[in-house]
Amino acid sequence: MAGSGNTENGLSNAEAAALIAFHVEAGVTDFLGDEPVNRYALADATPQPAPRSAETRDLQRGSRPDPRGADAPAPAPRAAVPSSIPLEDAQAAETARAVAARCTTLAELKDALGSFEACPLRYTAKNLVFADGNPQARLMLIGEAPGRDEDLQGLPFVGRAGQLLDRMLAAIGLDRSSVYIINTLPWRPPGNRTPTPAEHAVCMPFVERHVELVNPEMLVLLGGVSAKQMLRTDTGIMRLRGKWATVRAGEKEFPALPTLHPAYLLRQPAQKRLAWRDLLSLKAKLEG
Ligand code: URA
Repeated sequence: MAGSGNTENGLSNAEAAALIAFHVEAGVTDFLGDEPVNRYALADATPQPAPRSAETRDLQRGSRPDPRGADAPAPAPRAAVPSSIPLEDAQAAETARAVAARCTTLAELKDALGSFEACPLRYTAKNLVFADGNPQARLMLIGEAPGRDEDLQGLPFVGRAGQLLDRMLAAIGLDRSSVYIINTLPWRPPGNRTPTPAEHAVCMPFVERHVELVNPEMLVLLGGVSAKQMLRTDTGIMRLRGKWATVRAGEKEFPALPTLHPAYLLRQPAQKRLAWRDLLSLKAKLEG
């Protein structure tokens, strides 16, 4: 907006604010300009990430530790957002695996994700959505990715789908104190677009380490994306749902029940009868 109190298209600042409020009220979640803006080039305007040790920095860039040692001249300052993120590079996923493997607690894993730079989703998301619920719970739920409400609050499943999930859990006597919830991605994809394979590749090592550290008795995979990622399969959710499978995370194996995603059930309420069957199967396993 111009300093004169008017925007470039002639609206006063108050008018522009009212227009934005109107759009938000109408359900608009993302504002796109007519022309693309390379925000990676606007490094000065972007907050700098917290400083990290040289070793962690090297790991996160996927490079080897600097053999020149601590006395070597400091490298030129890097843009806050890397102009080319090595996402397509399998090295980024390997780097993620190395970073995640070094975490021995959930707090360390959260910190590591908070400073992990090799996934571009972190630059468009407002918050890291790490987890909700009870890490001591017997049951761990894995959803797809945060949506707008989750991004704003930094917690998984707090929007409409989350409210339905809470009702589904309540139907078999569970609540957020008796489950632990994460997503296959800890950052919201812009505009809720479908996550790319590269985004998943770089985030999955953290998800697997998360499962390993929580070490639940069993998993529920919410929706096709979660089931495909966790079971490393291309089979669709309609064929997978309701059948107990095995998820491997690190050295461990976990019984896992794929089921329908609550957001899908909001769109297709008639399918709730299938989800109910799955919930009964889950209840029987918890009681068995
Ligand atoms: N859908 C998901 O898969 N995860 C959330 O956290 C919210 C909606």
